[in-house]
Amino acid sequence: MPALVLLGAQWGDEGKGKATDLLGGSVDYVVRYQGGNNAGHTVVVGDQKYALHLLPSGILSPSCVPVIGNGVVVDPSVLLSELSGLNERGVDTSKLMISGNAHIITPYNVTVDKVTERFLGKRKIGTTGRGIGPTYADKINRVGIRVQDLYDESILTQKVEAALDVKNQILTKLYNRRAIAVDQVVEELLGYAEQIKPYVADTVLILNQALEEDKVVLFEGGQGTLLDIDHGTYPFVTSSNPTAGGACTGAGVGPTKISRVIGILKAYTTRVGAGPFPTELFDEDGEALRRIGGERGVTTGRDRRCGWFDAVIARYATRVNGLTDFFLTKLDVLTGWEQIPVCVAYEIDGKRVEELPYSQTDFHHAKPVYETLPGWSEDITKAKSFSDLPKNAQNYVKALEEMSGAPISAIGVGPGRDETIEINSFL
Ligand code: IMP
Repeated sequence: MPALVLLGAQWGDEGKGKATDLLGGSVDYVVRYQGGNNAGHTVVVGDQKYALHLLPSGILSPSCVPVIGNGVVVDPSVLLSELSGLNERGVDTSKLMISGNAHIITPYNVTVDKVTERFLGKRKIGTTGRGIGPTYADKINRVGIRVQDLYDESILTQKVEAALDVKNQILTKLYNRRAIAVDQVVEELLGYAEQIKPYVADTVLILNQALEEDKVVLFEGGQGTLLDIDHGTYPFVTSSNPTAGGACTGAGVGPTKISRVIGILKAYTTRVGAGPFPTELFDEDGEALRRIGGERGVTTGRDRRCGWFDAVIARYATRVNGLTDFFLTKLDVLTGWEQIPVCVAYEIDGKRVEELPYSQTDFHHAKPVYETLPGWSEDITKAKSFSDLPKNAQNYVKALEEMSGAPISAIGVGPGRDETIEINSFL
């Protein structure tokens, strides 16, 4: 019954695609359990680079069944264009399964996301503008449209009517926009229905049966722990639960079934969008991390904010996810620095604080307390085992492991599929 959760331990973009892909060959099912096309995985296979936003990265492994769970929000136009893009490159996508209970990102959800952000002005969240938040809001408000609704025109029309009833008032009266016509939305959504139908399945039943049969199921989180709606830096978060518990609700699998929870941890820190970020750098070191690490959003094309490694955040991720392992990524990006600062605690209003404060105000005031570790200059991209790493790189990894509270079981030393050091097997 090996069920593994793989999730971001920071603010997302830790390199999950590479980790998922590394396991791809031995995994039977790869399941996305939350988020939508706000995610961005870059997967490198051979000399081909794939940027995926909605589809699970397991879609590239021929032996693996990719699953979009009930907790995901699905933009049908993005889904179909990602599928046809992969088909054009010869990737077989026929095994994909989509939960009939997953919610649909409708065109009006995208509109609402954009106008709300504009309206917020300086207080904006910096969302990806893909309609994610408004779609989850509709779900919780019980006016959401689910994948299964595409197959009953009368129900679909009633539901779109219900959703637009209030929204059109807000769009016209508050945001000074034109009202959205129910018929147009229904027509557009019905236009996707037949193309999506072959993929729609009872994913909860299928995944639980797979686990009974001892199949290997990998739950792939989008975004990261600090972007979690409950456990992240609210309100500068996404509107779902990337943390480990989200895998259970977002896929319909009980917590007793999860055998391993792996946190993907970048050897430094990045963040996209607004919100507090204690170790953020505004100098040439930040610029160098961005340049060397290629820190530009896969989904939005926005430059990522960059900073040193923050062990307080890593410890927090270990706690709220019950992490059993870390996959440390992008260690090679740090090659060439003589000294590497690592944030070991915060100073908040003159006091040293070891753990992430629950108070938003305190976190906004947190200043990093750094310890400096000696760097290395040797190329590490060819390292195959931990002992191949230069001593200072080994010590950096060991220090991070000690501070973060879970074993580092794999290390990414380059973007390629095989540029990974495996210390403990995840299976
Ligand atoms: P939303 O998910 O589009 O609602 O955006 C909410 C916040 O989450 C914004 O700060 C986004 O930049 C951030 N965000 C959403 N998806 C990702 C991701 O995959 N990586 C990093 N940040 C993300």
